[in-house]
Amino acid sequence: MEVKVFDDYHSLSRYAANLFLQQVRQKPESVLGLATGGTPEGFYRQLVQMSNEESISYKAIRTFNLDEYYPINHNHPQSYWTFMKNHLFSHVSINENNIFIPNGETSDVERECERYEQLLKEKGGIDLQILGIGENGHIGFNEPGASFASRTRVVELTPNTIQANSRFFTSAQDVPRHAITMGIASILESKKIIVLASGKKKAKVVSEAINGKVTEEVPASVLQHHPNVLFLVDQEAAVNL
Ligand code: PGA
Repeated sequence: MEVKVFDDYHSLSRYAANLFLQQVRQKPESVLGLATGGTPEGFYRQLVQMSNEESISYKAIRTFNLDEYYPINHNHPQSYWTFMKNHLFSHVSINENNIFIPNGETSDVERECERYEQLLKEKGGIDLQILGIGENGHIGFNEPGASFASRTRVVELTPNTIQANSRFFTSAQDVPRHAITMGIASILESKKIIVLASGKKKAKVVSEAINGKVTEEVPASVLQHHPNVLFLVDQEAAVNL
């Protein structure tokens, strides 16, 4: 596992965007794993700006998002579908047929999870996965206690996550209680993983994930077992390292 510490959020986001573009240039048909949340917003801003400056073509790439609330309408302002549209998809030349996000509108959620796992396999697995990390150590919506062998499935959000995400909703009451998430085993099959962590609220979990015991109680600690993980951390999140 490699760790890079940046002076600030801006330089961290820019570095991540550069690595992502490098991947797209090297392999235009890359399968890219995408994350949502507050942390990657700067990354997407930089990515859109650089992609447009360089006229990078996204026509052949395939994207898989880590997770989606359940149930939620695609067009809900806080769905991850809407997030991705606003932060990336409506700004670059991506082919809509190559965008994969768990369907939060499905009436058969078990089948949707199987379909998503199957699609990941069919497309050849993820070349580069972008990850955030929850204050409780979650990756995707794999909350503490999630099995390292888990696959795409429906999960219940913890009170901590509902509270953390309530800042995007009118109130904590409005945050969906469930989500569809790629499992930990599904995430670990990615060839490369880049984790973004910013701000002092993440300092504790960043040090646990990088230097602590590998335990299902801190899902991100499993990344210590992956052969190609890069943590990009700003000063505030790095204080305990
Ligand atoms: P955040 O979420 O970027 O909004 O802090 C990270 C995560 O929950 O994975």
